[in-house]
Amino acid sequence: MSINQNLLRTTRTCEDEAQTIQVAKELSELLEPGDVIALNGNLGAGKTRFVRAVAVAAGVEDSAISSPTYMIVQSYFARLEIHHFDLYRIEQEEELYESGCEEFLEAEGVCLIEWASRFPDFLPHDHLEIEIDITGENSRQLTITAFGPKHARLIRKLAQPL
Ligand SMILES: Nc1ncnc2c1ncn2[C@@H]1O[C@H](COP(=O)(O)OP(=O)(O)OP(=O)(O)O)[C@@H](O)[C@H]1O
Ligand SMILES: [Mg+2]
Repeated sequence: MSINQNLLRTTRTCEDEAQTIQVAKELSELLEPGDVIALNGNLGAGKTRFVRAVAVAAGVEDSAISSPTYMIVQSYFARLEIHHFDLYRIEQEEELYESGCEEFLEAEGVCLIEWASRFPDFLPHDHLEIEIDITGENSRQLTITAFGPKHARLIRKLAQPL
């Protein structure tokens, strides 16, 4: 892995699903209360798969996890308090605020937000973005970018060789 010190961006090439899960596990081990992770990428890129792997690595039962398609946010409680958002079906930004779900962003949990790019103003400035690009049937390119000092510290730890 390489990290560009100026851009605070790092990329990971995942040749198969197991490698994506490994990146998610490494991230999960570094997450702290208040972290906000935006997950972007096309339908079927692997955003939900990534969140599941983060949650399982934090001690959540795999069977307890599903995509929050019909709810804006689902919460899981284990070593970390995890709030899993999916903004795909939200049409108006007001729906987000009316649901009250932005309170999770200020709470002690970790927020992982699928389709965050649909509502950029919803995100706090300090966050980590993971863009997942489909490069083949089972291969993905992850582009991870830090915004703000808290997540800059996080990406530096993530970029350190194991
Ligand atoms: N390297 C990989 N990383 C992640 N997922 C992979 C990989 N290879 C194959 N897959 C498969 O791709 C699919 C990703 O589906 P997933 O529901 O996570 O996508 P998504 O980005 O959440 O889509 P949506 O926008 O519909 O919510 C899963 O079926 C997963 O098994
Ligand atoms: Mg999904």
